[in-house]
Amino acid sequence: MDRVLNLILCIGLSVAFVSCANARIVPTNSSPLGHDDATPTGSNFTHVCDPSRFDQLGLDMSIFGYCDSSLPYNVRVKDLVDRMTLAEKVRQLGDLAYGVPRIGLPKYEWWSEALHGVSNVGPGTFFDDLVPGATSFPPVILTAASFNESLWKKIGQAVSTEARAMYNLGRAGLTYWSPNVNVVRDPRWGRTTETPGEDPFVVGKYAANYVRGLQDVEGHENYTDLNSRPLKISSCCKHYAAYDVDNWMGVDRFHFNARAAEQDMVETFLRPFEMCVKEGDVSSVMCSYNRVNGIPTCADARLLNQTVRGEWDLHGYIVSDCDSIEVMVDNHKFLGDTKEDAVARTLKAGLDLDCGVYYTNFTANAVVQGKVRETDIDKSLKNLYVVLMRLGFFDGNPQYKSLGKDDVCTDQNIELATEAAREGIVLLKNDNDTLPLNSANFKTLAVVGPHANATTVMLGNYAGVPCQITSPIDAFSKHGEVNYKMGCGEVACRNESLIFPAMEAAKHSDATIIVAGLDSSVEAEGLDRDNLTLPGYQTQLINQVAKVAKGPVILVIMSAGGVDISFAKSNTNIKAILWAGYPGEEGGRAIADVVYGHHNPGGRLPLTWHEANYVDMLPMTSLRLRPVDELGYPGRTYKFFNGSTVYPFGYGLSYTQFNYKLASSKRSIHVKLNKYHHCRELNYTCGAYRPPCPAIHIEDLECKDHFDVEIEVQNVGKRDGSEVVIIYSKPPEGIAATYIKQVIGFKRVFVAAGTSEKVNFSFNACQSLKVVDYAANSLLPAGGHTIIVGDSGVSFPIQVKFDH
Ligand SMILES: *[C@@H]1O[C@H](CO)[C@@H](O)[C@H](O)[C@H]1NC(C)=O
Ligand SMILES: *[C@@H]1O[C@H](CO)[C@@H](O)[C@H](O)[C@H]1NC(C)=O
Ligand SMILES: *[C@@H]1O[C@H](CO)[C@@H](O)[C@H](O)[C@H]1NC(C)=O
Ligand SMILES: *[C@@H]1O[C@H](CO)[C@@H](O)[C@H](O)[C@H]1NC(C)=O
Ligand SMILES: *[C@@H]1O[C@H](CO)[C@@H](O)[C@H](O)[C@H]1NC(C)=O
Ligand SMILES: *[C@@H]1O[C@H](CO)[C@@H](O)[C@H](O)[C@H]1NC(C)=O
Ligand SMILES: *[C@@H]1O[C@H](CO)[C@@H](O)[C@H](O)[C@H]1NC(C)=O
Ligand SMILES: *[C@@H]1O[C@H](CO)[C@@H](O)[C@H](O)[C@H]1NC(C)=O
Ligand SMILES: *[C@@H]1O[C@H](CO)[C@@H](O)[C@H](O)[C@H]1NC(C)=O
Ligand SMILES: *[C@@H]1O[C@H](CO)[C@@H](O)[C@H](O)[C@H]1NC(C)=O
Ligand SMILES: *[C@@H]1O[C@H](CO)[C@@H](O)[C@H](O)[C@H]1NC(C)=O
Repeated sequence: MDRVLNLILCIGLSVAFVSCANARIVPTNSSPLGHDDATPTGSNFTHVCDPSRFDQLGLDMSIFGYCDSSLPYNVRVKDLVDRMTLAEKVRQLGDLAYGVPRIGLPKYEWWSEALHGVSNVGPGTFFDDLVPGATSFPPVILTAASFNESLWKKIGQAVSTEARAMYNLGRAGLTYWSPNVNVVRDPRWGRTTETPGEDPFVVGKYAANYVRGLQDVEGHENYTDLNSRPLKISSCCKHYAAYDVDNWMGVDRFHFNARAAEQDMVETFLRPFEMCVKEGDVSSVMCSYNRVNGIPTCADARLLNQTVRGEWDLHGYIVSDCDSIEVMVDNHKFLGDTKEDAVARTLKAGLDLDCGVYYTNFTANAVVQGKVRETDIDKSLKNLYVVLMRLGFFDGNPQYKSLGKDDVCTDQNIELATEAAREGIVLLKNDNDTLPLNSANFKTLAVVGPHANATTVMLGNYAGVPCQITSPIDAFSKHGEVNYKMGCGEVACRNESLIFPAMEAAKHSDATIIVAGLDSSVEAEGLDRDNLTLPGYQTQLINQVAKVAKGPVILVIMSAGGVDISFAKSNTNIKAILWAGYPGEEGGRAIADVVYGHHNPGGRLPLTWHEANYVDMLPMTSLRLRPVDELGYPGRTYKFFNGSTVYPFGYGLSYTQFNYKLASSKRSIHVKLNKYHHCRELNYTCGAYRPPCPAIHIEDLECKDHFDVEIEVQNVGKRDGSEVVIIYSKPPEGIAATYIKQVIGFKRVFVAAGTSEKVNFSFNACQSLKVVDYAANSLLPAGGHTIIVGDSGVSFPIQVKFDH
């Protein structure tokens, strides 16, 4: 995504980006109807099938089967679609669906965004005097760091309530193209801020929870007919698939061909989408700009129709990233397609909706030219209208009817946004228990650095207008007398001219807080990083301030991707380091709450913080997760990289100490094989023990075996705190080219000082112990697997045996 963003980049940074020169991408505001008219509903109607609305149109509603709520949705949408001419049908296939006044169908703008709060990035949603803003939760990478599934879901629920309220007021749509569930394969990726990090399982769990929070109507979560399950709002998992290069060394997403091994597709790139569809029951999936193994994703029938719709059984619609079909023709020049060839190809592949104008402009000709059947269009339209019916667009939704202005930016939601930031913030260093600070001892505070007065930068991208903003200096001034010096002119910190005043402030204050890091001039949509260091003179600023500071020095990093701050980690003048992601509208308050111990930090890094030289070892364009020894490429993510790091995946300290006690567990799994079970080969390293029956394909197993892990988490320190328990599995020794370990479960638990809490997990052996082999088979290997509990060194073996 998306057109709007491209436009902003082009205006703001046109000198820096070559790709902008050919950004022919249409600004959204040029849509023929403009914002007000393009919104799905106005004050003039609340739902389509309202007899008085039909009266006004001079129509008798009773003759329209699609408005007969006693009929099943499939019958109603067939009636609706069958009433349209071909010319009318194609005008409903773009994000701006023009409607058909003749039959009472109004226009609808499909494109809205709600990545971390209701956003005005899509044309379906806007703010004005009536609704001036919505709660802006922290960008996803920080919320992910909380490792708290119920928080993820609760944020989804708060966002969808605000969205539904804004819809009632004619300010928002019902269909939201969020979340972004691409795995962060490479630390340079510019869109890391939008994602839940580098682990496919964690990303998938985030997706399922956030989607359920956005979509589920209370009391209707477990509908028997999932094709008619009511929706609060519709959510969309994007960008499918293997999308994670934006613009790196001149390689951009509009031209990139992701060469992904099937093994990596199954194990890493598709996994979050599969979980989003199967566990989240999402109602939309968006295909991406890039090609995968030569084929643009929106034209790939295997990825769309066969996998998403067929194997995963999507109940919903498939949408393109904005202008993807145009990108396919003009940039990928795929198969030399004409515009008509391209729209025919994507329709047949299973792409239902075009964010753009290609379907609207060229599909009728494609039918006339014999390239695609009218029934292919009908199928797509039906997928689309069923979703609108489930949302109550046609019949209304009494459950949400009363929501309005007062349900947006509530104190409760603003508090939830603050809580999300507090829960996500990661304590990376705390020498001699310097934190938390006791405000009685630190009356004057130097608050310095390019983010000391961060405001909109804390909102990240895909933000709306926030309810309010609390910057770090605002928040710290509630605790002491703040001496604010920026230390740099901007995040790029191009010279040293402002460092001296920051040093002076530190020299004369009881404590020093340095707030540094990155922003969208360094990591953004359309902009990948090429190094992992702090920009410009920020490192000098930090070291020089730390050297002269009178009191303790606390470094706070705002960034999405990891930064090589080894210099600060080893600098004994810097007592504590916090990572605060981009912390959302109440970010300053959340940081101060952590610094003063009103909240004991429990967040964990959702991705590896690599040393700077990591990125010199492999190009961003190589998708292989496993090390490529011939080329000297190290592996990617904690699952495959075994070298040293600045901070590993899952890292995070607390103001208290926790011990784990393993309370119980099953230590072996015996699978009785019959004559139809065939043993599968696995590749073992030289000299390793090879069991007589190395593995069984999990499709051949019933997969009913579970093992339970019960952990007692003891808080042996002096403060209450929350601990994130992460459970990993490690395959038997000797299996070649597999992962080092992988997350199979996690839970965040609150434990009062001096007490303990039990945390229980139940794992399906097939799902939690499987490996994906080079041929993309999912296998359960025989032998001694290891279950590892956090970084605590607690682990236990679990034996898998196959007996004939
Ligand atoms: C997880 O989030 C929920 C919902 O916000 C919250 O009530 C709970 O306290 C959080 N759990 C922990 C252990 O922090
Ligand atoms: C729906 O099913 C899930 C899983 O089976 C269960 O945890 C949940 O309580 C059910 N919800 C309702 C409202 O019945
Ligand atoms: C789409 O998938 C369905 C079933 O999964 C199959 O019957 C149909 O032929 C597929 N269509 C195309 C165009 O591949
Ligand atoms: C699509 O059609 C509209 C209306 O005819 C026209 O203004 C626009 O330029 C067309 N766009 C493309 C990309 O063909
Ligand atoms: C902690 O404090 C002690 C005593 O003040 C000091 O000797 C030690 O170097 C400090 N350690 C660190 C890591 O700052
Ligand atoms: C902090 O930033 C805001 C928004 O950019 C600005 O209005 C305000 O003047 C700044 N505060 C200081 C002390 O510079
Ligand atoms: C140093 O940076 C500041 C802030 O960006 C800028 O105003 C100033 O012109 C720069 N000085 C030099 C000598 O480039
Ligand atoms: C690192 O990248 C940033 C922005 O992408 C750039 O400003 C800076 O000069 C680079 N630093 C080095 C040491 O190359
Ligand atoms: C790390 O991986 C490399 C490349 O596969 C391998 O040569 C090395 O032995 C591994 N090191 C450890 C400590 O496992
Ligand atoms: C199996 O492992 C050997 C050596 O470890 C390697 O040379 C070979 O390519 C591997 N085969 C496959 C199919 O991965
Ligand atoms: C965990 O499992 C044990 C034993 O099965 C049970 O006694 C305990 O109540 C469970 N605890 C929780 C929090 O579910």
